[in-house]
Amino acid sequence: MSNKETSIISSWLTNAAAWIDIISRQGIASRTLATNKAIIDAVMEQHPKSVLDLGCGEGWLCRELVKQGVQVTGTDISPELIRKAGETTDGKFFVASYEDISAGHFIFENRFDVIVINFALLGKESVENLLSKLPSLLLPGGVLLIQTLHPIVRIAMGDYTTGWKEGSWDGLGEQFVQPYQWYFRTLEDWLDLLVKSGFSAVQHTTVSHPETAAPLSLILACRTT
Ligand SMILES: C[S@@+](CC[C@H](N)C(=O)[O-])C[C@H]1O[C@@H](n2cnc3c(N)ncnc32)[C@H](O)[C@@H]1O
Repeated sequence: MSNKETSIISSWLTNAAAWIDIISRQGIASRTLATNKAIIDAVMEQHPKSVLDLGCGEGWLCRELVKQGVQVTGTDISPELIRKAGETTDGKFFVASYEDISAGHFIFENRFDVIVINFALLGKESVENLLSKLPSLLLPGGVLLIQTLHPIVRIAMGDYTTGWKEGSWDGLGEQFVQPYQWYFRTLEDWLDLLVKSGFSAVQHTTVSHPETAAPLSLILACRTT
């Protein structure tokens, strides 16, 4: 595993308590304004019985889906986040890295109607390897839903090129430490990667700020047929 991928994991292990705290007090404005509802709606539009939430964090999305009668399974690299998810949510939660899943070291008992990944694809090789594994974890007709930072946001920054970018925790508070580099993909490169991973039909939707209409996130809905 590259040093950059290791740094991402190390940062999340270190910041787990800060993440539980900020989510519990709804401390990220874009989430409460738009992106939480957008991903819940995108999942529920599929009328799933079973959902796998990869990089599920402390489990907020699984909790919302359980309220609507969905059977949820969540995985994350952080034992602290998975403990929190298991304590607060009626679902199955496992500590598993993307590397464990793509290498077949972590085996799921069943396949899923929907796999959802909400703001949790942060690296390069880890993401490439994980995505190519996911078609085999979906039931026939199943859908992979990814919510990520809208790539357009980087055009205004004058750097719209795929590659590793400096990260920061700006705006989230001083309790967050160890910022890490993350791997940015242009929209074209997201679509290309998903097709190479075995998803032949990929739709993309922009989630916008409800008042300013500024793009906040991109939701990719990916099918194998
Ligand atoms: C921004 S948080 C999003 C958490 C959750 N999906 C949500 O919407 O609140 C990113 C998550 O990805 C997880 N993560 C990062 N790299 C990972 C890896 N290589 N394997 C598994 N989980 C990983 C982190 O532990 C963290 O919970």
